[in-house]
Amino acid sequence: MHEDVERILYSEEEIRAKVALTGKAISADYKGKDILLVGVLKGAVVFTSDLMRALDNDVNCEIGFITARSYGKSAVSGGKVDMDDIKRQLGCEIKGRHIIIAEDILDSGLTLDTIKKGFLKESPASLKICVLLDKKAARKADITPDYKCFDVENEFIVGYGLDYAERYRCLPYIGVLKKELYENAINTIK
Ligand code: PRP
Repeated sequence: MHEDVERILYSEEEIRAKVALTGKAISADYKGKDILLVGVLKGAVVFTSDLMRALDNDVNCEIGFITARSYGKSAVSGGKVDMDDIKRQLGCEIKGRHIIIAEDILDSGLTLDTIKKGFLKESPASLKICVLLDKKAARKADITPDYKCFDVENEFIVGYGLDYAERYRCLPYIGVLKKELYENAINTIK
């Protein structure tokens, strides 16, 4: 285990098993259909790439990635989404498509709520949300995932795509970051 991680929440094996089940559930719902699986960068890159390989062959899956950071410049910020930019990033139309948005974590929900509203304005055939982690205690927006792998408490989670200051995304498991690491950083900023 990485020395900065306090404890492992979900092991590589547990994640693999849960992503496989989620892939089966999506495959059953979209049997014989064409879907556009949209991963939200950067956090969802690992989840999305495992999820698309967990889909059955009778689901035709196109993939795309969009950037939507909570901080800094992006197509999504302050509750607004630039759908022209999103469509440019995807390289395709959204109208009439079965869209599944894949996210690593549903935290306050503000990011996904904004993205969802933006996509719905483009008249997709359907739109569903699939998250790796659901941190319900932090929710500010009224949004519920259609598919989810795990619930998590209100702790700082890293690994399997999730970062702290761009670190720990590469860890193959999901863990809780040691408090002193981010508390010190907050104190330094103050
Ligand atoms: C994280 C995560 C979600 C968002 C969730 O992204 O990947 O996109 O925050 O938070 P919310 O529910 O409170 O809106 P982040 O901005 O950290 O960027 P990253 O994916 O590049 O790590």
